[in-house]
Amino acid sequence: MRCKYIASYESRVRTLYRVLSKIYGLMDLIVFPNKKANPRKGLANQIPDEQVRVLDVCCGTGNSTIAIGKKNINNTVIGIDLSRDMLKVARNKAIKNKITNTSFIEMNATKLDFPSCSFDFVTISLAFHEMPQELIDLILVEIGRVLKPKGKLYIIEWDWPKHPIAYVLFSIFPSLFEPKEFKQFLKIDWKQLLGEFGFKYLGMEHYTFTK
Ligand SMILES: C[S@@+](CC[C@H](N)C(=O)[O-])C[C@H]1O[C@@H](n2cnc3c(N)ncnc32)[C@H](O)[C@@H]1O
Repeated sequence: MRCKYIASYESRVRTLYRVLSKIYGLMDLIVFPNKKANPRKGLANQIPDEQVRVLDVCCGTGNSTIAIGKKNINNTVIGIDLSRDMLKVARNKAIKNKITNTSFIEMNATKLDFPSCSFDFVTISLAFHEMPQELIDLILVEIGRVLKPKGKLYIIEWDWPKHPIAYVLFSIFPSLFEPKEFKQFLKIDWKQLLGEFGFKYLGMEHYTFTK
């Protein structure tokens, strides 16, 4: 039953992102115009520019993957995603930006095809909010497996903005595009959830519409 459910989820994701891959690039331009408060910059700044291995899970068109690879040229950064179409955009973007330390692989985040303890850092940005809790749980287990014992996980997710106009916009637009559980998702206690999967919670920073 669970396998059937996951298989239909995968085909829905591939179909949806075949279409969205054509316009996904617009999102960062519209939502994160302020470079200083861009969560991808914040993420890239957290990772040391050393010979470390970074995995970007559900990388999509590589916005976070490329931000990390560009800022930290000594890192090896691998992006994985289910959608071939999103990965194609990511590869083209890396070539256009002459970034040579990133690579992109088609893979399911619930079955990461990497040995245990093989990454220093794992990131997942703006993907969990689209998933049912069972899938988030499976992915957290896989991330915990591939991270080295002293490795770190960085999650970027949507968050209510403080500015009143932004707050109103945020209460309207996600209702049009996101799953009906979106507002409930925003209430997740990450410290508690991550603790249940054996992660030690280190803290949270706030960026434009995100944390
Ligand atoms: C909203 S996009 C986020 C993309 C990117 N991380 C970003 O920050 O822009 C969600 C991505 O998650 C991918 N995805 C969803 N479920 C997945 C799974 N089980 N394994 C791998 N990728 C998955 C989708 O194909 C899509 O590219």
